[in-house]
Amino acid sequence: TVLVVDFGAQYAQLIARRVREARIYSEVVPSTMPVEEMLARDPKAVILSGGPSSVYAEDAPSLDGSLFDAGVPVLGLCYGFQLMAQALGGTVDNTGSREYGRTDLSVSKGASTLFEGTPSHQQVWMSHGDACSAAPEGFTVTASTDMVPVAAFEHDGRRLYGVQYHPEVMHSTHGQQVLEHFLYRGAGLSPTWTTASIVDEQVAAIREQVGSKRAICGLSGGVDSAVAAALVHKAVGTQLTCVYVDHGLMRKGETEQVEKDFVAATGVQLKVVDAADRFISALAGASDPEQKRKIIGREFIRVFEQAQAELVAEAGAAGEDVAFLVQGTLYPDVVESGGGTGAANIKSHHNVGGLPEDLEFELVEPLRKLFKDEVRMVGQELGLPEEIVQRQPFPGPGLGIRIIGEVTRERLDVLREADAIAREELTAAGLDRDIWQCPVVLLADIRSVGVQGDGRTYGHPVVLRPVSSEDAMTADWSRLPYDVLARVSTRITNEVSGVNRVALDITSKPPGTIEWE
Ligand code: XMP
Repeated sequence: TVLVVDFGAQYAQLIARRVREARIYSEVVPSTMPVEEMLARDPKAVILSGGPSSVYAEDAPSLDGSLFDAGVPVLGLCYGFQLMAQALGGTVDNTGSREYGRTDLSVSKGASTLFEGTPSHQQVWMSHGDACSAAPEGFTVTASTDMVPVAAFEHDGRRLYGVQYHPEVMHSTHGQQVLEHFLYRGAGLSPTWTTASIVDEQVAAIREQVGSKRAICGLSGGVDSAVAAALVHKAVGTQLTCVYVDHGLMRKGETEQVEKDFVAATGVQLKVVDAADRFISALAGASDPEQKRKIIGREFIRVFEQAQAELVAEAGAAGEDVAFLVQGTLYPDVVESGGGTGAANIKSHHNVGGLPEDLEFELVEPLRKLFKDEVRMVGQELGLPEEIVQRQPFPGPGLGIRIIGEVTRERLDVLREADAIAREELTAAGLDRDIWQCPVVLLADIRSVGVQGDGRTYGHPVVLRPVSSEDAMTADWSRLPYDVLARVSTRITNEVSGVNRVALDITSKPPGTIEWE
């Protein structure tokens, strides 16, 4: 494992991704974790992330310098670079001026582990106020910029390296190469973390966890639960039963699709539960997003418990214990539900923060450490068809969190129609692979005046939320062609009664999240 120590920048997740792209497993840990605890994880290398602070700020996060004597290779980036310089006896000046954005980096002549084979001038992405003016003793300065005399340093003997800029962002043209030089040359690691190795490792771990007991898996039709189910199926075969809960919050055609695509591809045993009444009555009166998420999370579990009881009964109560619940929880779900590294709780993803406390199952979550694109690669490795592996994400709480206001059957029907039209047109325009997903949101408590035919209407708006993203942690709004937007708008207002306005959401994430709730 390579540990990425998070000093509070939004870059830590990205660094972890870049390390994984180099085929080495990495995890993010908070900077408040004691060094002994970090070392107890036996990291093969440590990367210190950037951060918003100045090392001179009063509440600046610090680092115990004993990390540098532990014999573990360390790479400091930006703020991490400055902490390292300071801890090892270099000089960091509070320059008062900021260097921000694209900058030309001059690589020093002479041998360098990090910069070997990269151009003597390269574009890098800077974002800092303080600057290192003297490297610690024994370190070689390997690069500088107009404003910063020491923009990179290294001590090969101690395997300590640092750069002032952000190699993890794509604006640093040779950033990935520099990171890989640290990992392969500096730390001596090999790129062994491949999808095949993830599958092998997870299959072994699942067999060990489940033993001879039985498991059920909630299938949602999405990529994550499908891949989780396929992994568990590979590990324990018929000990797994998949349960597809139709909670009435699904999109048009979803249930049929799961039955058709997934079962055909994997041959798993599938139980379809029609639970629409149950969910919709549980949601009555709820309009607060967190409350809705918790209700949905709870009802899911209650339905799974019922399915469990039925399975035990069907098996003739032959002592067959259905003890495990498989979930397709991903790394970003864990982090964003506040379960990761001390990150803020943005929203309770239904399968993490939304779980009831009296859960009777032990969870099996084989994707808990993976990003979405990694999950897709695992799905491919397992032989799942493109239609499943490349599907756009759809949240477990479904349309329930896309109706702003109370969820009712009528509103669900309206949104389902609008959503189906948007999906149809995007697919027809060949845009499915260009966008990450396109939630359609019904502003059910808002009405506006319109005119249709010869009459006045007083209807609801729907919002299109097309986004592009690499892993849903950050996203940008997709610049969809106007003619496609026009077709979607015309069709929705013509064909969906109750909707008289279509709006486009042009907010990136951050500051907006992808879903509206
Ligand atoms: P946000 O809205 O947090 O969404 O920017 C990030 C990604 O996660 C999906 N999402 C969920 N998926 N259960 C899920 O399975 C949930 O409770 C949930 N909430 C959001 C969302 O569709 C997007 O892809």
